[in-house]
Amino acid sequence: MIKWNDNFSVNHAGIDEQHKELIDIINDLVVYISEKDTEFSHLLDLVTKLDNYVAEHFKYEEALMTEHSYPEMDVHVAQHNGLRKKLEELNIFSVDNTIEFYKELLDELIDWLSKHIMQTDKKLGAYLTIN
Ligand SMILES: [Fe+2]
Repeated sequence: MIKWNDNFSVNHAGIDEQHKELIDIINDLVVYISEKDTEFSHLLDLVTKLDNYVAEHFKYEEALMTEHSYPEMDVHVAQHNGLRKKLEELNIFSVDNTIEFYKELLDELIDWLSKHIMQTDKKLGAYLTIN
């Protein structure tokens, strides 16, 4: 479980709102897995939602970077691309994936997201407040 707190704020309302939504989806998946819900379609709905939301969120941030001529865009986008590639390669929608697989995926995602927000997104947020 990952809990939003003000330390996560990047000082940009739009990005913060999307991060909260992402955290909500991740937490829904954590609950699903801990309850050992056996409804596979439910899991698939959540994973699809997460996959789509990550894509939408990255696009949103990248549009802001373009719009505001963010000088560190390349480094930031490379991090996004790293996660995009990983999600693609994992085949997260495979029916053969076990609960263990999703548990590990979630742990990695939580780790990636918290580091990315605290370091990379905060830099972007700081830039956007003055540019
Ligand atoms: Fe980002």
